Amino acid sequence: MTAEVAPIPEISVAEHALSPNMRLHTDALIAYFQRVVQSGEDTDIAKSYLQTLHDISHFVDVKSRLVSGLPSRRDAGLSRETLLQFGKLLKDRRLQARLSRAALGKKTGLSEATIKFIETARTRPTRGTLLRLMAVDALQLTWADLAILRELPLPIDHSHAVSALEQQPAGTMNWYVTPGYDGVRLVEDLARFLQGAGGLVEQTSAYLDHHSALDYMAMTRASAVTMAHQAKIPLHDIARAIIANSAGVGLNVIVLGAGNGVLETKLVQDLIAMQPKVDVDLCLLDISQPLLSVAYKHAVDTLGGIAGMHIWAMQGNFHRLGSYTQLHYQPSRTQQRTRIYTILGCTLANLDDEAQFVLDNLNAIARPKDYLVLDLQLGWGRTPEEIMANDPALRGEIPKPTARWLEGPIRRSCPDVREIHMTCRLDPAPIQGSYTLTVLATVRSQSQGERVFSMFRFRRHDRALFVQTMSDLGWELVAGPPMPAEQGRELSAVLLFRRR
Ligand SMILES: C[S@@+](CC[C@H](N)C(=O)[O-])C[C@H]1O[C@@H](n2cnc3c(N)ncnc32)[C@H](O)[C@@H]1O
Repeated sequence: MTAEVAPIPEISVAEHALSPNMRLHTDALIAYFQRVVQSGEDTDIAKSYLQTLHDISHFVDVKSRLVSGLPSRRDAGLSRETLLQFGKLLKDRRLQARLSRAALGKKTGLSEATIKFIETARTRPTRGTLLRLMAVDALQLTWADLAILRELPLPIDHSHAVSALEQQPAGTMNWYVTPGYDGVRLVEDLARFLQGAGGLVEQTSAYLDHHSALDYMAMTRASAVTMAHQAKIPLHDIARAIIANSAGVGLNVIVLGAGNGVLETKLVQDLIAMQPKVDVDLCLLDISQPLLSVAYKHAVDTLGGIAGMHIWAMQGNFHRLGSYTQLHYQPSRTQQRTRIYTILGCTLANLDDEAQFVLDNLNAIARPKDYLVLDLQLGWGRTPEEIMANDPALRGEIPKPTARWLEGPIRRSCPDVREIHMTCRLDPAPIQGSYTLTVLATVRSQSQGERVFSMFRFRRHDRALFVQTMSDLGWELVAGPPMPAEQGRELSAVLLFRRR
């Protein structure tokens, strides 16, 4: 009996997207495996991976030269002056680190002669060589140091972000603060509310200050469910469904609630890999200034420098979409672009009334044929008994990172708090087939006795009933690729809708 050989799938990836993305990834992997080699663990395996990665890196260089007609990094000529300057820098750092050429050779896997030739400007360092040198901590080489090699395009680093910004025409907007946005007042209002008698805190307040943003990011990193969701979400299939209907049309991706921007950036990477010519405007909107800066940096580090890609951030409130004309205005003379709204990280399911948000807010600005990409957590039962018995969130204590994130604003606003006890309660929800998990904080303090705040709400949905609700609201399902099963069932869903 012979095993059936699966046909190799046809990958339709545009070359222009292949090389920048592959460069970023191979450079990051090379740096990682160099550290593994230095650590002395699994050295042989790491060395063999390194060799393969250097081959891939070379392949990408050659490929990008063929596609762009430009000289590759390897061929780029550097002036003698630049080589002398870099050689001197390397020598100074090596001597400061008290390393002989032989010792540095041992650490980097480079020959003594190569190091000598670089130091004396007799050869130009390849990208691979630079990466090896940079991996030696004692040399303290940073990308900023390598700025003298500006003639040589560098791998992923901050200069990449800077050069991406430099490439935008002068005066191009990259950060917009909406009229009336006042981050300090938002935090002050929240503090005043938390000093009161108790009540419901709208989800917006969970991300406002820097501490909340840090605790939120720590919480997502600590959550196995969130990390699995982020890693496995089939955004590639969503991108394919969008491109199938928008071939050759420019895309405006409008991210509502950017968070760390990882999923949204991944979606854009998939989209541009399928576009014959990159033409994407990515707007990241968030109310949290610290989170928005994380998302913006991630997007620029990943996508910056790609011709045809424009990235900008908008500090604002997604409950006021109608007043942000920058998001939806399009001069009638210009060619219509495809707009894609994203609400990822299960954000829609944290809103107090998600159907109302779509009806009264999103629908006010969305045009026919606009797309909406969102994700949801799915329910564990239909009856309260079934849900109580099966939903893991209702068993045991609130996980510590979640408690720390949601308690933070209370502790910062009410210094005389003695104790905060967090519990999770099962509540009904507005959309049929869904239910709410409400996180309650019972706060005991010296001056005010006991008070109860509803700090956050997570909703779980029934996929089919949610799709029906969206259809009633004017959004048709276009794609809902299956999520990989966990614990024997699908825990979440990602859905692509199109406005009728
Ligand atoms: C659950 S996180 C999701 C983040 C990200 N999309 C992801 O996939 O990880 C929700 C995000 O929405 C933002 N947000 C919450 N309320 C908002 C509001 N009223 N206006 C704008 N952004 C808001 C938060 O700051 C946070 O970054």
